[in-house]
Amino acid sequence: MTIRATQNPKVPFSMFALTVKNFMVGAFKKKPIPKLYKTAISEKATGGLTLKEAAQKRGVFIGAAIGDVDSPAVQELFPNHFNSATAENAMKWGELRKSLAGSYDFSKADAIVDYALSHHARMRGHTLVWGKFPGHGSPKDIAEVLNKAEDPRKMLMAILEEHIFTVMEHFKGRVLTWDVVNEPFELFGANVDQSVFHQVLGLDFIPLAFSLARQADPNVKLFLNETIYNYSDKKAANFLKLIRDLRAQNVPIDGIGLQSHMMTELPSLPEFRNYTKQLAELGFEIELTELDASISLFRKEKNPYQAQSDFYREYIGACLESGACKGITFWGMYDRDNWMDQLPPLIPFRPNNPLLFDEDMFWKPAYDGVLEALRK
Ligand code: G3I
Repeated sequence: MTIRATQNPKVPFSMFALTVKNFMVGAFKKKPIPKLYKTAISEKATGGLTLKEAAQKRGVFIGAAIGDVDSPAVQELFPNHFNSATAENAMKWGELRKSLAGSYDFSKADAIVDYALSHHARMRGHTLVWGKFPGHGSPKDIAEVLNKAEDPRKMLMAILEEHIFTVMEHFKGRVLTWDVVNEPFELFGANVDQSVFHQVLGLDFIPLAFSLARQADPNVKLFLNETIYNYSDKKAANFLKLIRDLRAQNVPIDGIGLQSHMMTELPSLPEFRNYTKQLAELGFEIELTELDASISLFRKEKNPYQAQSDFYREYIGACLESGACKGITFWGMYDRDNWMDQLPPLIPFRPNNPLLFDEDMFWKPAYDGVLEALRK
């Protein structure tokens, strides 16, 4: 059997068609989305509280993904507004160790961890096992090494043990929550994807990863992290079934990360409430681990930025209602640096402006919306 590195997620025809349509229609006819807001927080909503203070009062984490720890946005915004950090890329296997032939370089990740801890923030580890984006999610030569192995299964189990123990030992006492397995499912499909891990170990790679992580550090929270766009579709149902099966096998999973990237659709809030209720009933903690909602989703609203704020308030409020929601992390600091603007299907929607601070680092209505959810 030839083991293949997981190709970068295939964009389904529907997304390709959306891109073409957007370029043909939206991009040319797209008028700028009016901001209609002051560039400062509205006192009425905050009562003088910052996000970080409101989150601490609520006993939850409010976090942001940090790409470049030296960026002005991180330096200026992180300390006052967030009490949790996730390294956007620096802790990924392929970023820590480009190839299995090479060694680990923790310098970029350590800089982010040191910065977060210096501001008394919690650090989320992202992510130990991710089959997508070979060279970033995992070392670029894993498939090659396994294809040469006499017993690929045995070899991969040893590789996973070495990786998980090495990384968790390195960050022990500093990283208190780990995305142990990230996105086991196809990005736009309803099945577990054909990562090298799944090809060689079948679904056993998931329990194996969690049991190795639990052995490596019994004192951290272990999360299974997935991107769900629609909480009533086949992917959501299959993911919940997988979670139930893993629970029944007593796999040591403490929490479920719902990434919450909103690019081409907004989820139904009743369906989201029902989903989080089921996760809570199974005894899992829940975190919104990569939250962002493109402003293009609110383009037709009278006041798009207020509508984006209202969505965040309702979505985060629904998660908090589950009683199991322990953290909300936005996938970035400010609109000038957001990953969505790099995504081909979303290029016509640029600027996606999904975050809490605008391109000039001013507070947006979205900030108010999150505050209102935290203060309810
Ligand atoms: O570091 C290289 C640089 O040397 C090179 O010059 C440059 C141009 O090719 O690429 C740089 O690597 C990029 C890397 O980000 C670091 O900036 C990769 O090409 C690029 O694909 C990678 O994108 C990241 C992506 O994960 C894949 O790792 C995004 O920034 C990051 O926001 C995104 O985050 C993921 C989460 O980890 C999992 N959930 C989905 C989320 C969005 O895709």
